[in-house]
Amino acid sequence: MNPPAYGEEAFVSGPARGLRGTISVPGDKSISHRASLLGAIAEGTTRIEGLLEAEDCLATLRAIRQLGAKVERTAEGQFRVQGLGPKSLSEPEDIVDLGNSGTSTRLLLGLLAGYPIAATLTGDASLRRRPMRRIVEPLRRMGATIVGREGGDRVPLTLQGGRLKGIDYASPVASAQVKSALLLAGLRAEGRTRVSEPTLSRDHSERMLQAFGAQLEIERLAVALEGPQELEGQSVKVPGDFSSAAFFLVAALIVPESELTLRNIGLNPTRTGLLEVLQAMGGAIEVLRQEEVAGELIGDVRVRSSSLRGAEVGGALVPRMIDEFPILTLAAACAEGRTTIRDARELRYKESDRIAAIARQLGRLGIHIDEREDGYELEGPQVIQPGRVDSEGDHRIGMTLAIAGLAARGETRILNPECIQTSFPNFFELLRTAAGGSAGS
Ligand code: S3P
Repeated sequence: MNPPAYGEEAFVSGPARGLRGTISVPGDKSISHRASLLGAIAEGTTRIEGLLEAEDCLATLRAIRQLGAKVERTAEGQFRVQGLGPKSLSEPEDIVDLGNSGTSTRLLLGLLAGYPIAATLTGDASLRRRPMRRIVEPLRRMGATIVGREGGDRVPLTLQGGRLKGIDYASPVASAQVKSALLLAGLRAEGRTRVSEPTLSRDHSERMLQAFGAQLEIERLAVALEGPQELEGQSVKVPGDFSSAAFFLVAALIVPESELTLRNIGLNPTRTGLLEVLQAMGGAIEVLRQEEVAGELIGDVRVRSSSLRGAEVGGALVPRMIDEFPILTLAAACAEGRTTIRDARELRYKESDRIAAIARQLGRLGIHIDEREDGYELEGPQVIQPGRVDSEGDHRIGMTLAIAGLAARGETRILNPECIQTSFPNFFELLRTAAGGSAGS
């Protein structure tokens, strides 16, 4: 089955029979962005196997082409990035449009800041609403000039890069995008750049920078590097995206008679908070095999339908599962007892305000959620009614609604499913394969 075309509705009819078999999800979005960006500034060729060919990562590839890097796709689907090394990035001739991708925008701001070029970055309506001051402010302190709407908090933003000096920056939010942007700027800055964060966010940048030859000092909640430093092109193998696998983990837990194996999934512990929470909720999830490939843990995971109980999620766990709250909420709606989410205010600054969007859209399927400023609470189990819902332009809300449809008693229609292309182009196809025909079109 093909994914729904732009402007169409998707429909999913439940209740599905079990999800069964063995599937692989596409490559990790965070790692794909980083491989392209580091490849663009490294000396020599970077070979990327398993790069996620979804809208967000394609936006990063287009951007690095605009900056002078050469990108080729081989017949086998591998990417080759010819990096600029010690040469400067070129000044892009036109505006750099990053679509829906916050990661591309924020990491690029950091990457560009150390080069003597001007660039204007923009994106779609969702990206134009998202906060950029968290990156802009420390980059200005390092010496970059950045102007844009709302004092430089919103794209379109124009950056004039140049000579930077390292800073010691205590980020008020646990954000891998902030940390990564400043480390990329730090590579070109004079002196030491150090970034600390309140709790640990995903550490793919640290791992990949080291693989590309950078010298980093890693503390528990801080990373530092001495600039300037050069990188060397590498071969990168991108694991399956845990955040994409998450939709199938929850689907298999809540649809009776499921037994599904997910192969070659990234299991970096800064990403697998959801796995721990689902296991604590009573979910039968086993890691069958794991190995380290190029600095990242990869493994196979088997999941079976389970009776779940509610959970409490807060504190340091939140950044370790920051993209998984929409789908966790669905698991919680099917679980016995109360689920409480705290310390998750960051969810309000994602592709949508995810606290409001989850409550609104799952609400249309009869699931009642009590919103809080920094999270929400719900009591389960709740009956999922079929209905007409809207992704609100947020891929992870759209995919959560599709999985909810599998567990509903009737047909669920999802408006605006095309945003799922930003991270998971074959989502509906794979869902249909695993659900054996009950996942509609
Ligand atoms: C990402 C970091 C997270 C995450 C996003 C991808 C990354 O954002 O939500 O989907 O690749 O660095 P924050 O760093 O803003 O939490």
